[in-house]
Amino acid sequence: MKAVAVLPGKPGSIHLADLPAPRVDDVPDGRGVLVEVLRVGVDGTDKEINDAEYGAAPEGYDFLVTGHESFGRVLEVGPNVRDLEPGDYVVATVRRPGTSIYDRIGTYDMTTDSTYFERGINLRHGYLTERYVDDPEYIVKVPPALKEVGVLLEPTSVVEKGIEQAYEIQRRLKVWKPERAAVVGAGTLGLLATLILRLRGLEVTTLARTKPPTLNSELVEALDARYVSTREVALLEAAEEYGPFDIIFEATGVSSVVFESMEALGRNGVLVLTGISGGDHTVEVPGDRIMLGFVLGNKVAVGSVNANRTYFERGVQDMALATAQYPGWLECLLTHPVQGLDNYEEMIRLLTEERDAVKVFVEVKGRL
Ligand code: BGC
Ligand code: ZN
Repeated sequence: MKAVAVLPGKPGSIHLADLPAPRVDDVPDGRGVLVEVLRVGVDGTDKEINDAEYGAAPEGYDFLVTGHESFGRVLEVGPNVRDLEPGDYVVATVRRPGTSIYDRIGTYDMTTDSTYFERGINLRHGYLTERYVDDPEYIVKVPPALKEVGVLLEPTSVVEKGIEQAYEIQRRLKVWKPERAAVVGAGTLGLLATLILRLRGLEVTTLARTKPPTLNSELVEALDARYVSTREVALLEAAEEYGPFDIIFEATGVSSVVFESMEALGRNGVLVLTGISGGDHTVEVPGDRIMLGFVLGNKVAVGSVNANRTYFERGVQDMALATAQYPGWLECLLTHPVQGLDNYEEMIRLLTEERDAVKVFVEVKGRL
């Protein structure tokens, strides 16, 4: 069967590979779930993998099948699978457990192992193929009413984890009632973070470089959130005007923005860092000022990567809430469909060149 793959370490190596079709009994103990892939979303990580900044092939292979934002339909289940059946729409999680204590309690997103396994990213094949098989522990059911937007569940899970981490940490304050949040970055993650924070009832200011109006600024405003172009108002000024920010959700992956956010954060606030960059930049920052503000303001910064199935499940609930509260909004994120696995070059071109793209995704099967 066809699969879109790269040769890790070799820039621009994206190509069509041939994989043996998986079978339901590839997973031991009758726990196999065989899934037909319908759609796969792509993001900056896929671009970095093709640029050879990131990614490793599974043992025994010289290529890595890419794609970690999946959406599919169950074809067949093993005799010991209870909660899934053929026809169910599903999304698979990305990371697979290693050996640390965190992996052993289902929180593989918190692993302390130095080697981690991520489907489509590191040491495990991904979903840009026709079928995959996995254990039901890693497969989350999506109600048919969400099938049009189900491919957004993986990025949503990343946002859910970041926000949940913030609330968990802030239990230190006993009476924390966040009112205002800033989201920095208005790409897929920034937009989804704006959505989830609005669903939690916060007043949200979302900052991005581009001057409005853009599709992104319109999507922010459709959530009754405020869009601010940092070309017009810097983050620190925005904090003066629209803060104090109890939460800042950083989703740009630009390290200078991280330090600016540390300064812009309100007293007792929490800064969630989710953006990553494969780069190696050095930045100059007002260190004394940031440190003083952090200590005197009892501030917290937390990094957050990946998501375990709990956050995928929460993502399903919030996506359902979003379709009721902001009908049609999630659909608008799906801006750039690519038809079929054969068009992987078009997929990479859209990822690198199309500045207006919110979400590029591959329609692996013609119809849902
Ligand atoms: C994925 C996460 C993953 C992270 C680091 C992101 O693009 O969405 O699931 O953990 O990259 O590899
Ligand atoms: Zn991703």
